[in-house]
Amino acid sequence: MTRVISENVGAFYHHHPKVAAIVTAQAKGKKNAMTVDWHTSLSLNPPLYGICIVPGRFTYQLIIDSKEFGINFLPFEAVDLIHQVGSSGGQQIDKFQRFNIASDEPIKTRVPILKAAYAAYECQLVDDRDYGDHNLLVGKIVAVHRLQEAFTPEEMLDLDKVRPVLYLGDELYLTSSGDTVRHLESVGY
Ligand SMILES: Cc1cc2nc3c(=O)[nH]c(=O)nc-3n(C[C@H](O)[C@H](O)[C@H](O)COP(=O)(O)O)c2cc1C
Repeated sequence: MTRVISENVGAFYHHHPKVAAIVTAQAKGKKNAMTVDWHTSLSLNPPLYGICIVPGRFTYQLIIDSKEFGINFLPFEAVDLIHQVGSSGGQQIDKFQRFNIASDEPIKTRVPILKAAYAAYECQLVDDRDYGDHNLLVGKIVAVHRLQEAFTPEEMLDLDKVRPVLYLGDELYLTSSGDTVRHLESVGY
């Protein structure tokens, strides 16, 4: 292996794969869904979740208008849907109708919760910050939806039951399986 060092940053996909998830939003009678792989938990108390979105996206406008967003985690069986909502614009089409997306009712917000999701968070927007070509939108998680059978008693995703969608970049997707899981003891200092 040859290590290459460069000041040319490029698209920096090197830290992938990342979990691909679907952000949902609803405002002024319109609902929409888009894929994100740039997202992260930010704080446990208060429970904060961050998503990075290009401000030109239709979803961004809906989030700013409603001050809410949902983030939905889907199994690998839904990889086609993840790619479809990540490569089409809600300004042009109704993605829920076009891709036959079924949703459940939220309890604290008006964001669509996807029926196919093994977990989803309802978030209330607490911050919107410009970081170059993406904005970091931070939401307080006000409700968690999850399929009980998809998780272990310790609330970890059970990889024998559900395979997550991982995104490598450049339209390449993969998943992982339970036989790669290793439990390591704490080093203790
Ligand atoms: C796997 C994947 C990951 C993506 N991640 C992001 C992301 O993190 N942030 C972003 O702004 N767009 C991301 N996109 C692009 C948007 O999902 C895409 O532009 C979408 O069409 C926007 O929809 P909208 O205009 O209806 O909001 C991603 C697309 C794919 C396929």
